[in-house]
Amino acid sequence: GTLIHCLGLDELEIIENALINISPDGIISDLLRSVSRESVKQCLATLGLSESECNAHFLERGQFLVPGFVDTHNHAPQWAQRGLGQSMHILDWLDNVTFPNEARFLDPEYARRIYANCVDGFLQQGITTASYYGSMHAEATNILADLCLEKGQRAFVGKCNMNRNAPDYYRDATVDSSLRDTRDCITHIRSIDPEGKLVKHILTPRFAITCEDALLAGLGEIARTNPDLPIQTHFNEAEQEMSFTRTLFPKFNNEADLYESFGLLTRRSILAHCCYVSEYELGRLEQLECGVAHCPISNMTVGGGFMAAPIREFLRRDIKVGLGTDSGGGFSSSILDAMRQALVASNAREVMSKGKDKGLAIHEVFYLATLGGARVCCLDEKIGNFATGKEFDALPTDPMSSKPGVMTMVEEHDSTKTVFDKFIMTGDDRNIKKVFVCGRQVKS
Ligand code: GUN
Ligand code: FE
Repeated sequence: GTLIHCLGLDELEIIENALINISPDGIISDLLRSVSRESVKQCLATLGLSESECNAHFLERGQFLVPGFVDTHNHAPQWAQRGLGQSMHILDWLDNVTFPNEARFLDPEYARRIYANCVDGFLQQGITTASYYGSMHAEATNILADLCLEKGQRAFVGKCNMNRNAPDYYRDATVDSSLRDTRDCITHIRSIDPEGKLVKHILTPRFAITCEDALLAGLGEIARTNPDLPIQTHFNEAEQEMSFTRTLFPKFNNEADLYESFGLLTRRSILAHCCYVSEYELGRLEQLECGVAHCPISNMTVGGGFMAAPIREFLRRDIKVGLGTDSGGGFSSSILDAMRQALVASNAREVMSKGKDKGLAIHEVFYLATLGGARVCCLDEKIGNFATGKEFDALPTDPMSSKPGVMTMVEEHDSTKTVFDKFIMTGDDRNIKKVFVCGRQVKS
């Protein structure tokens, strides 16, 4: 069938009559172009497949295969609070909506119930890779990692570190207990997936506001001695957050210097938001090879700003950028929604910058949700497109034109690119027929 993926930011490749071969361990062993259906049928018939079994291997007109989506910023314990507290300032939203909600994950039964629904929900949306914040609880975080592995979602899972500026009932008791819990989670996740094939722990200082210096330093030390571990935090998200951070850390002029001084900015760092980035900080992110998780929905709903991050500038400098649902600050679990909002935000940025930062195109937001996100997670050698040797994370799409009310109907005269644009702009999970992660079908 037809296959669509990105080879780079400006290289959308559409391959008609593609044949993709997957080895039993889920690796793409071959990608052939312009293959005739007849020859594939004959080949499958020699393997003893019936007519209908053969047909199940073909995509029909209007259907195509895209790489699985990468969600570079997601709060699993906020799954059941999505859409709440919209338009509150960030610190008020944390105090009033988020902390009371996340505190419930002390109860492992509750955690298991919500997290199972959460992982299923994101797989349903075609999110084959997610970088998850857990709650502060080690046990619940381990449960989340277990569920990702069991359900087959590729994931980074992090115990959230926070030992101050959070209520007594929801914060790490001490620096030592916070670091101990983190080490417990690292050990647990290494025990269930020793090579980190699917699931890895990610160091997750919530943000500097909720972490004392000694906690940030301790996490930096874990990062230094475990250079394979990714790191995530919130970075220059909102003015309220940035000004409080400056009062807590008067030594630092900016968040780049702050996090770097604790050893938390590396090529494996995923920095959520980056709404406000000075020339100096752009240079630091570039040099330190940090990745940006762009969360255009939450940036325009929660946080107290209405801020379009300088994505064009990041791309110009080849700073890695991916998309985040930021569920639940972001109200949607759909990365297709995040792609559309990234377009809207980029148009706002174009106006703000008086035309300097040109708005993003559809193929560019698709890049952010696939190969761009893979680069942010340092997983671009494994996933992000259908290059041979990568793992098969894929979504066969289906326009379902016969049913009204789903994506824009596909017409006879539409080119493949037009159908693709219709899917990106108006499709939803009903147009994602199946979901594969490393060759395993995880949604049917
Ligand atoms: N900053 C600190 N915690 C959070 C969170 O949970 N969501 C968002 N969007 N920003 C944060
Ligand atoms: Fe967030």
